[in-house]
Amino acid sequence: MGQRRIAILISGRGSNFVAIHEAIGRGDLDAEICCVISDRADAGGLERAREFGLEAVCLPARGIEREEYDRLLGRTLAPFDPALVCLAGFMRIVTPILLDAYPGRILNIHPSLLPSFPGLHAQRQALEYGVKVSGCTVHLADAGIDTGPILMQRAVEVRDGDTEETLSARILAEEHQVYWRAIALMLDRLAVSR
Ligand code: GAR
Repeated sequence: MGQRRIAILISGRGSNFVAIHEAIGRGDLDAEICCVISDRADAGGLERAREFGLEAVCLPARGIEREEYDRLLGRTLAPFDPALVCLAGFMRIVTPILLDAYPGRILNIHPSLLPSFPGLHAQRQALEYGVKVSGCTVHLADAGIDTGPILMQRAVEVRDGDTEETLSARILAEEHQVYWRAIALMLDRLAVSR
């Protein structure tokens, strides 16, 4: 296993991936991004990865059943030998095929204080429910939707007059602060347990 190599899986703009890349660049996170994989060819984050000179792989998921896709993902990831697989806006449920290949080593970030508001549109769900505090969570992935042991959370106040956009933006700013810290924590834990 590459000791501090991390793989990042995305589906969209990839701002969390960029924040992780920047934390590495600043020297705040001692890690190496070994590949960025997207299930969508039009993911903006893939372009950013190429600009940064990183390995950027598009692995379209359309028409492939879930287990088969995860087998493909596993085969794509294997040569990069990541210590951690970081889901960063990767909008797919991972199956035991991938979970068993990287036991306890797949992280996910979600824009709510889990276990509240898993799934799509977490920020909209929080506003519709009327909670006064929301936030973001980094957790170890399991076979559920945004479930699994929590590593770190950041709380964000919900303000009167917040829209999905304003709340999402404030949560995203916290996501960018918390994900690289959770990755550092996990890499350090893996180093200790070796
Ligand atoms: C982030 O807000 C992330 O928490 C969320 O998707 C967004 C991706 O943004 N993930 C989920 O909702 C997972 N259930 P990004 O592509 O700019 O990092």
